[in-house]
Amino acid sequence: MAGLTITPLSPSIGAEISGVDLSRPLDAETRSAIATALGDHLALVFHDQSFTPDQYLEAASIFGPPMRQHYSQHNMPEYPDIGLVWHRNGQAPAEMWHTDHTNRIRPPAATMLYGVEIPSAGGGTSVANMRAALGALPAEEQVRLHTLKTVNGLDNKSDTRPEDLEAYDKPIVHPMVRTHALHGSKAVYFHITKTKYIEGMTPEDSKAYMNDLLERMIRPDIVYHHQWRKGDVLVIDDRATMHRAHGDYDRSQARVLWRIIAEGDRPVLI
Ligand SMILES: [Fe+2]
Repeated sequence: MAGLTITPLSPSIGAEISGVDLSRPLDAETRSAIATALGDHLALVFHDQSFTPDQYLEAASIFGPPMRQHYSQHNMPEYPDIGLVWHRNGQAPAEMWHTDHTNRIRPPAATMLYGVEIPSAGGGTSVANMRAALGALPAEEQVRLHTLKTVNGLDNKSDTRPEDLEAYDKPIVHPMVRTHALHGSKAVYFHITKTKYIEGMTPEDSKAYMNDLLERMIRPDIVYHHQWRKGDVLVIDDRATMHRAHGDYDRSQARVLWRIIAEGDRPVLI
């Protein structure tokens, strides 16, 4: 594990890891230290990385087995577990706060993004600490949230192939407070547009409540904003954060990220 350095990027969230070339085989101790750092800091940044697809998949397995993504039309040819995040033909980046793939029984522990083509300005990614967000809510609302469950499915059906709808649009129930399998802490957990409704509430009331929660919870002091450089890797802990893209860049410029999601545990509240 020689040379690995973990430098926090803010008091609440984010750490830069240096002294590691993720494209090379790493020993078990180093892999475990990086996985633990993700649970502690919730967003990890590695600069100046360079991968082949196979090397990138191997690096992502630090956080869990790479899992299939449901926008199969954006998967890398020959490497279906690598999704290409890019915005062409008027597609909008995911600018609302969310956590990935809540329509799965075992949603990702982590989302890994690798900056391949980066616009000259803007186009960053923000990550919010939903562990801190939970702790900042009024005590009685925390108690209420511990009792609530979301029913999840696919949201953007117009951009989803029929075979992906068939495979990934079954109703999946998750607690709105999730216990982190590695860290043991609890965090607010939901995806506002993949949630069809909160159990016991109408879809309209569910959406209004989640919007209200997001407005109250996401404050600058619990957010890390990543401004991309080519060769950056950003790893996001999907068990205890929400993230969003920023579309504030010149859309004639390319913004291409390789995305892998690493399978996690089934969300539980214990
Ligand atoms: Fe996402």
